[in-house]
Amino acid sequence: MESIYKLLNDNKEWAAGQLRLDPEYFEKLAHLQSPEFLWIGCSDSRVPANEITGTQPGEIFVHRNIANLVIHTDVNLLSVLEFAVVHLRVKHVIICGHYGCGGIRAAMTNHDYKQVLNMWLRHIKDVYRLHREELEAIGDLEKRADRLTELNVREQVLHLSKTSIIQKAWNHEQRPHLHGWVYGLKDGIIKPVFLMNAGSPIDSLYQYDDI
Ligand code: CO
Repeated sequence: MESIYKLLNDNKEWAAGQLRLDPEYFEKLAHLQSPEFLWIGCSDSRVPANEITGTQPGEIFVHRNIANLVIHTDVNLLSVLEFAVVHLRVKHVIICGHYGCGGIRAAMTNHDYKQVLNMWLRHIKDVYRLHREELEAIGDLEKRADRLTELNVREQVLHLSKTSIIQKAWNHEQRPHLHGWVYGLKDGIIKPVFLMNAGSPIDSLYQYDDI
């Protein structure tokens, strides 16, 4: 069978299996979406949010892009963030990168990936530049990429805290907490690398008045 048809076929089997476990499974889900978590992860097919955290549909609101970036002009990401924070009222936002990330590795090369990938990867190069000294002290390139992955996650968490969406929620509701995590493709373990609890101090340059 062609692989695309296999997906539809397997979907029917999965739906039937869910109903065998709980005849009201879909009815319950259709009426309720109240996730506590927003997940901003890499699009990489090996890092599926629900599977690696042992959660079910309905538990995590998900946004994914290459190398889990938070770019302050990205209307897609900001819409997801606004909806999750203001309407779903999530308690936690997780930025989850992963070791062995192709986006991170690509940004460490001088290869011309052409528009529009060059535009996207530029944001990772900017993180590299901020931490150039630390990164270039690491001789092993794989270890250097691993460290850049961690620093990138940290930087994206900081980007979240600079948005008016997060600042407003922090001021009025003391949520959400912002977590920076890195997932290991080799062992399946998530390592927390950075945390900003609601109300953490942020660089005054990015702080909004009367929010
Ligand atoms: Co990746």
